[in-house]
Amino acid sequence: MHTAATPALAMLRLLGGFQLSQAVYVVARAGLADQLLDGDRTVAQLAAATGLRADPLARIVRVLAGQGVFTLDPATGLVGLGPLGRTLVTGAPESVRGIAVMWMETHYPAFAELWQTAETGGPAADHLFGMPYFAWLAQDPEKVATFTAAMTDFARAIRQDAFSAVELDGARTVVDVGGADGAVLAALARRYPRLRGTVFDLPHVVAAAPLLLRAAGVDDRITAVGGDFFVEVPSADCYVAGFILHDWSDGEAARILSRVHEAAAVPHARLVLVETVLDRCEAPEVAALLDLTMLGMLTGRERSGEEWRVLLEGAGFRLDRIRETGGPMCVIEATRVP
Ligand SMILES: C[S@@+](CC[C@H](N)C(=O)[O-])C[C@H]1O[C@@H](n2cnc3c(N)ncnc32)[C@H](O)[C@@H]1O
Repeated sequence: MHTAATPALAMLRLLGGFQLSQAVYVVARAGLADQLLDGDRTVAQLAAATGLRADPLARIVRVLAGQGVFTLDPATGLVGLGPLGRTLVTGAPESVRGIAVMWMETHYPAFAELWQTAETGGPAADHLFGMPYFAWLAQDPEKVATFTAAMTDFARAIRQDAFSAVELDGARTVVDVGGADGAVLAALARRYPRLRGTVFDLPHVVAAAPLLLRAAGVDDRITAVGGDFFVEVPSADCYVAGFILHDWSDGEAARILSRVHEAAAVPHARLVLVETVLDRCEAPEVAALLDLTMLGMLTGRERSGEEWRVLLEGAGFRLDRIRETGGPMCVIEATRVP
């Protein structure tokens, strides 16, 4: 990898980020990293395997070799997986292939409208799509599946430390609020064999959960329920919400918390959030990037510890503790105040 010789060159590289992102997208969409799992191959072989043309592919590979995505042997022309390339292998523990596809297919076009956000304060996505992002997503089952796959990548590759740190000892029933396809709750249910619970998400999203819960062998204890968390959430003595409240403004997040407060089965119900905490984050640049994502796509934001405390207290919850987890996410534990 090169080091920038001058600020102007460094800026050029920063500005070229949009091109590099699209180059990574081509690699991710084509499944090129999977093709290299069994060993190095020539560009001609990769082109034949993926149906792409050899010349553009060679130029894409060359630029990404300079970024650690591929290794490139100048003598033989053989292409191999670089350290970053391994993160594009489908389903690998550190795979972000689904994020690459989702970000480039939905977030990338929206971010071309970031100027609108800076001028008006409204999400760039609303400007481009003519409606809020989740409403736009709901119109196309393929996009929903792409989004959910990206969330699974986030949970496994970026937030695994945090989900491993979630403690549900003593909880009998749990609702994963905005739990998507149930991947997170299925993993928690395997760790807590007596836990019963509900994956709750929009009906068209949670539709994918029964299959996953069955495959995970937890469908006798975990059920899937569709609904709108601004209207009502299922009853339980413990609530988990990962990557949910950061999607929403303080007012909207407070409404979701109020629905949890109303539905709680016990007076001192527990609430466990997996989110970034700006002033406690081990990777502040990741939190700042996610905050930019919220700015462009949704009405939400990443929050400081104090902002989490104020939000939770305003909705009838006491912030008990914030636990750092070794990754970019924290576990925020709160208790319902009757
Ligand atoms: C950022 S994803 C987080 C998914 C999952 N909790 C995780 O940690 O990977 C936000 C989730 O909120 C869901 N969602 C958005 N609006 C919702 C609503 N009004 N009611 C229920 N779920 C909603 C989305 O479908 C999506 O699955």
